[in-house]
Amino acid sequence: MSSTFWFRARVHRYRIAAAVAVVGLVVGAGLVWWQLGAASDDSELRAQLVEEFSGAYPAVPPEGGGVVEVELVARPSSVSLTGEAPTEVWAYNDSVPGPALRVHLGETLRVVLRNELPTATTVHWHGVRVPNAADGVPGVTQAPVEPGQSYTYEFTPPDAGTFWYHSHFAGSEQLERGLYGSLIVEDPDEPTWPTDVVWVIDDWLLDDTGQVNAAFNTPSDVEHNGRWGTLVTVNGSTQTLLDAAPGERLRLRLVNASNGRVYAPRFDGLPASVIAVDGLPALEPLPADGFVIAPGNRIDVDIIAPDAPGEFAIVDDFTGEEFPLGRIAVAGAQTATADFDVPVAEHVPTWQASSEVTVDREYRLAITRGDGRWEWTINDRAFPDIDPLRVDQGAFVKLRLVNDSQLLHPMHLHGQFFKVLTRNGEPVDEGHFRDTTLLLPGDTIEIGFVALDPGEWAFHCHIQEHAEAGMMTTVVVRSS
Ligand code: C2O
Ligand code: CU
Repeated sequence: MSSTFWFRARVHRYRIAAAVAVVGLVVGAGLVWWQLGAASDDSELRAQLVEEFSGAYPAVPPEGGGVVEVELVARPSSVSLTGEAPTEVWAYNDSVPGPALRVHLGETLRVVLRNELPTATTVHWHGVRVPNAADGVPGVTQAPVEPGQSYTYEFTPPDAGTFWYHSHFAGSEQLERGLYGSLIVEDPDEPTWPTDVVWVIDDWLLDDTGQVNAAFNTPSDVEHNGRWGTLVTVNGSTQTLLDAAPGERLRLRLVNASNGRVYAPRFDGLPASVIAVDGLPALEPLPADGFVIAPGNRIDVDIIAPDAPGEFAIVDDFTGEEFPLGRIAVAGAQTATADFDVPVAEHVPTWQASSEVTVDREYRLAITRGDGRWEWTINDRAFPDIDPLRVDQGAFVKLRLVNDSQLLHPMHLHGQFFKVLTRNGEPVDEGHFRDTTLLLPGDTIEIGFVALDPGEWAFHCHIQEHAEAGMMTTVVVRSS
């Protein structure tokens, strides 16, 4: 009995081995066929990536909120940056930054821009997934708003988080002169911090008389990393000070509104972690010290004020030359630290399978000698001479950015959040989405996204002088 059984089992094993061999051959042949068919059919993998994405962030905004009406008047004004003599600026509603806008998820923002500048302008809502017509890109989504004219932007933000708005017309001059502000979208379901503040960071290049140096977009700015100022302000002041009680919990939202300068803040003595990047929450808190904030980037930092009173300086250290940003003064009676879990992303895809997916387009970023001036080109072309990338709504898209230069390029995609997939050939899993990612000299970065929002979306370097020298293209999302 047992020997018969053994015999049968052995035959059975041989059959399994034979079957495995046959399956192996078929799979092997299939792989060869698949590789020969090259790029061809990765549609199943792409479908998987879209599937993995679902639930990462909503396709459409929640409804039911009211309309928040805002008027932004862009006009010449003056502010004091250092607490001393005033500096002439261009401002929204006479303040730099412009009004700090806050809305709740579900509310619709209706903003009337009135242009009282001596030149044309537009407003872009950086990071907000707006209807295309509200995106503020002259020559792509709207005509420039001429002096004396108005334009109404209306949108319901689909995502809660830290966003900002700024001129998208001649940014090298208009951002530098002060045309920017913050936009916070609050989720009523999230815990509220006892202190929740925005610090908009900018640097200024002033002349000897304390006025904005009027030489904008110089050949030197273009050939380097844009215009880097020597005076760094937070919320338009060199004196920004935040008072906190010992033990108090703070949500500090940092926005980099500079033309070109990159920051890497240090939070000496302060327990600080990054809980959101470019608006959207991260999967888990990340160390805040040295977190790089390129032009366009935002981070939300969760800070607990130490029990021992004192003054804590937050200092930028990106270049090795330290720039004070602002200070937190901890004083007074101890307060009970608000006890809640920070909001974290419900789901951020790892998109590991994206390594098997072909690149939809490679973008080579380089400087070239154009018509008697330097141009920053993408695949040898300078905006508006572009070849828009057309993708389908709902599709997974993989882009490769190759920095063929010795300079910095914070690349910003309008209308979509993306995830960094690889950096210099190594897989990357940051655990959060972005709308802007910094390429260091020589870097190659691959990014992926699922195109949710139809329209023609700008894709450009956020160094204003590079963008104006041509470093901009578009991605067209065709609605399905
Ligand atoms: Cu914040 Cu197209 O820019
Ligand atoms: Cu650039």
